[in-house]
Amino acid sequence: MSQTILVTGGAGYIGTHTCLKLFEAGYEVVVLDNFSNSSPEALRRVEQISGRAVVSVEGDINDAALLERVFAEHTIDAVIHFAGLKAVGESVQQPLRYYHNNVTGTLTLCSAMKRAGVRDLVFSSSATVYGDPASLPVREGLPTSATNPYGRSKLMVEELLADVHKADATWNVALLRYFNPVGAHPSGLIGEDPRDVPNNLMPYIAQVAVGRRSHLSVFGADYPTPDGTGVRDYIHVMDLASGHLKALQWLQSKPGIKAINLGTGKGYSVLDMIKAFEKASGKRIAYQLVERRPGDVASCYADAQLAASMLGWRAELGLDAMCTDSWRWQVYNPNGYDTDNEE
Ligand code: NAD
Ligand code: UD1
Repeated sequence: MSQTILVTGGAGYIGTHTCLKLFEAGYEVVVLDNFSNSSPEALRRVEQISGRAVVSVEGDINDAALLERVFAEHTIDAVIHFAGLKAVGESVQQPLRYYHNNVTGTLTLCSAMKRAGVRDLVFSSSATVYGDPASLPVREGLPTSATNPYGRSKLMVEELLADVHKADATWNVALLRYFNPVGAHPSGLIGEDPRDVPNNLMPYIAQVAVGRRSHLSVFGADYPTPDGTGVRDYIHVMDLASGHLKALQWLQSKPGIKAINLGTGKGYSVLDMIKAFEKASGKRIAYQLVERRPGDVASCYADAQLAASMLGWRAELGLDAMCTDSWRWQVYNPNGYDTDNEE
């Protein structure tokens, strides 16, 4: 019989793509999302692509009574936990909201899992837990640190989950440290839909290309990198979604808790990204070199060996696919999911 996975935050950017991969692999899915940073339309698109009905519950991971009901009404085998707030700048302004949502929310979820006897958990962590990486490429054993409440919330959850596992070794937990997710489903029907001015590079470039913004500000051209701009490990969201499936299968066969990088192992600069996007879109991306953004590091890219050897997972899609798929999503949905009913 097929397994049922509770996907918190399943209406979000990475969650929707992962739901599709879960359906493809024969899993049943229950999405729990409060739509604080997403739209129910995203789940309708998942249904359109997959031809499957998405069981979705609108609500908050901090609602213990609701979680109890979800676990009572569905036989959940494992949880993939995406629900969280992710804007670094906002987390500095609103630390209590971020800790409540990301940390208390995870505690509430784990308590409900414990009561329901569910012990298999995949958690969305981030490469941000490496702070300014002590060495490159970034290996999982490097020291961790946080420079803002968002990053600290991820570190806190990693640590609290380690304690939960220490106290009860029947918990099986994958702490997936994502590098920089970009791209979209090749259909162009789902993708990243930032609510305000994008903070992240790729959605900003895409909005410049489509004419929604005049130009990109390149934050810093004096880093100790080949062209002076920041270097990151951009990973296609479809590869990232596959990584979740592999992690789920791994933790169900080999109990324990493990932090695992999900990245490509390759670093690209901001100027590399602009060039690649220009090639994919045929549009010129106007940009200005400006001051560094506070809190940014010069370079960050993964050592992706552990995921390869332990999960049998490797990123397969390159920069071309990342840019082409982001562009297709942007062109089909210039205002994100809001455009749906306009034609
Ligand atoms: P997203 O905002 O698109 O998705 C998160 C989803 O969680 C949204 O649908 C939102 O409505 C929902 N949500 C938030 N708080 C909730 C709550 N209390 N209860 C129920 N639902 C809630 O973000 P994403 O890019 O898909 O990221 C998913 C996870 O991965 C997040 O935890 C994020 O911190 C982490 N992550 C993301 C990135 C990235 O660059 N996108 C990088 C590293 C880690
Ligand atoms: C940011 C977050 C990080 C989070 C990650 C994924 C900060 C300081 N860090 O990482 O915690 O895990 O997103 O959500 O916000 N850039 C520009 N112009 C722009 C936007 C970005 O030049 O308008 C540059 C940045 O300086 C960086 C690169 O592009 O060199 C990537 O930036 P971004 O997409 O924001 O990701 P990170 O900074 O890696």
